[in-house]
Amino acid sequence: MAALYGTPTYVYSATTITENVTRLQKSLAGLDLKICYAMKANSSLALLRLVANLGSGYDLVSGGEIRRVLAAGADVKSSVFAGVGKTEAEIEFALKNEVFAFHVESEPELARINHVAGRLGVKASIAIRINPDVDAQTHAKITTGKSDNKFGIPMRVAAAAYEAAAKLPHIKVAGVQMHIGSQLTSVGPFREAVEKVVPFVAKLQENHALEYFSIGGGIGIIYEDALASGSKDWWDAFPEDERPLTPESYGAVLTPLLQPLGLKILLEPGRFLVGNAGVLLSRVEYLKRGANKNFLVIDSAMNDLVRPAMYGGYHEIVPLERDTSRPAMTADVVGPICETGDCFAKDREIQTVGERELVAFMSAGAYAFAMASRYNTRGRPAEVLVRGSTFELINRRETFEDQIAGEQIPAFLT
Ligand code: LLP
Repeated sequence: MAALYGTPTYVYSATTITENVTRLQKSLAGLDLKICYAMKANSSLALLRLVANLGSGYDLVSGGEIRRVLAAGADVKSSVFAGVGKTEAEIEFALKNEVFAFHVESEPELARINHVAGRLGVKASIAIRINPDVDAQTHAKITTGKSDNKFGIPMRVAAAAYEAAAKLPHIKVAGVQMHIGSQLTSVGPFREAVEKVVPFVAKLQENHALEYFSIGGGIGIIYEDALASGSKDWWDAFPEDERPLTPESYGAVLTPLLQPLGLKILLEPGRFLVGNAGVLLSRVEYLKRGANKNFLVIDSAMNDLVRPAMYGGYHEIVPLERDTSRPAMTADVVGPICETGDCFAKDREIQTVGERELVAFMSAGAYAFAMASRYNTRGRPAEVLVRGSTFELINRRETFEDQIAGEQIPAFLT
């Protein structure tokens, strides 16, 4: 693939994504489950089609994402529309495409949805996002369920918000939503949030004909090999609530709490479905032996994969040619961008690799290409999808012409 398409290139496994969907469905088999893939994690058209073929809808957050779903030949009707800042145009576009429901983040948004639906002569189905004020114990930038985060409505005023919603002529109260954060690695915070919100939902059911409860996304993945290969003893050493989260432990803890509601349960997984199904293929440019340390300079950079620079995210870096006879070296793995922050790993121990050799960043299927930019006038990487022994380019590398297509020199400068 590197020879055919160059590097850096993202490579995804259709089989792994399929297995992840199946595994999640099995883990929550006791529930009337609907998966709405949080496509912000990776919105490549091919992946959207793949998850649609597997029976999933989408968790949408912009008009652009709605257009992507349509461009993938998929359906908006089984998708939900989330986000704190939906514009009037986005609400209208979602309604015209018969979105399943809006996940409402504030009282003024509710009024706006009612207004737009009225103008179009339709009723909009909604769920209000409850902020349960639970600490998800994840990175501060991806914690969403604390009361000082911008998301949702506090539980103490949510009942009143539902009463107000029920009175609006163009609103249909359909569900309740929550989402406490991303990359959760233990089940405790999920349990705490569900235990807090379920009684609220049950009480609401007395006066409203609810159809569903969305418990959001957030199931974390294992980024570090050392953890993934942990032995059973290693695993058992953790108290139950602190064990690395699996879909099975998530399902085992949440199913009995959710079942009594008798509602459809919506799940919005992003990272879990695609995170470990992707790698970023890169090539070594130089091995620079510095005064105090080695720098492995590679051809991908923070514009291609921003997670290490932005969240201190960890990604395994694996040489494609494994050679145990070579000595290990310790190096900072860095990109070519002119910023010290353009660093993927500090003092990483890695098999010695030299110029032109290939390495793969593991667990790069989620929030990777989706967050790529053109910083330093670097075109965004190519993307390839593999299934079994076949693979296809699903997104060609961005060219210089793509990058400047919308730009022009103003007349007053010519
Ligand atoms: N539902 C809602 C309302 C969300 O805000 C999110 C993610 C999800 C579902 C999906 O969460 P997941 O299952 O993927 O954890 N760029 C960051 C992650 C941002 C997550 C934003 N919201 C990263 O690279 O870690």
